[in-house]
Amino acid sequence: MTAAFSCEWFPSPAMLTSLTDLPLKKQAGERVTVLTAYDYPTARLLDEAGVDLLLVGDSLGMVVLGLPDTTGVTLDMMRHHTAAVRRGVKRVPVISDLPFHTYDTPEQALASARLLMEAGADAVKLEGGVAFIPQVRAIVQAGIPFVGHIGMLPQSVVLEGGYKKKGKTPAQAEQLIADALALDAAGACAMVLESVVAEVATEITRQVKATTIGIGAGPGTDAQVLVTPDLIGSFPWFRPPFAKARADVASEIQRAVKEWMTDVTAKPAP
Ligand code: KIV
Repeated sequence: MTAAFSCEWFPSPAMLTSLTDLPLKKQAGERVTVLTAYDYPTARLLDEAGVDLLLVGDSLGMVVLGLPDTTGVTLDMMRHHTAAVRRGVKRVPVISDLPFHTYDTPEQALASARLLMEAGADAVKLEGGVAFIPQVRAIVQAGIPFVGHIGMLPQSVVLEGGYKKKGKTPAQAEQLIADALALDAAGACAMVLESVVAEVATEITRQVKATTIGIGAGPGTDAQVLVTPDLIGSFPWFRPPFAKARADVASEIQRAVKEWMTDVTAKPAP
């Protein structure tokens, strides 16, 4: 069955440039930048900096809410943060994550996707390949722009007993390619390839029409995404090895706080 939706993502003319440019950028070999945002000021700063796409990722659970992994993130949390990000952007399209167990059936997936769209998302993302095609079709056929996510799936971390690189064996590589082709045929505009062996990610990028968004998947994808706190060094307690911090916001916060405390405590009480 062909997809009803064809990557015509964003209704606002101001945003159409990014939207229609996605397939064109792929054809032209122009790289696309994607960063996560969870709140108004970060979204506004990233929008003003010119990033191509924002993702309200369910990494929210770990880097903002202090949860051990993404499985405790709820649809209400995602709606709350999606709305905050929406308020911060003028230009950049916003993708929002469907949390764990909010897309177990096609009907539930569509209902959850609608709630994220009402909160301000321009597209929704869920984790999974071939096994989730009925859910993807339900979303796409309702006219909701869809982004896939395959490879290492953070929502399956408990089930899999840790975060493991994908595509290391021929069987895994074959499965990843089958997942990617199925998502592409179902109408995904883009797909995240997380922690995938670089050669496999490059091969998927070659085979699919959708824009591939790599994270820990080598340089051969159409786009690259990072969890913003990893990029700016604002979550110093954990950073994946592939993410290079280009600022040290955590130290800068502590420096400013200590300087202010010294100022306050140095003054004699009146
Ligand atoms: O939740 C998230 O931030 C993500 C990225 C890692 C792609 O899905």
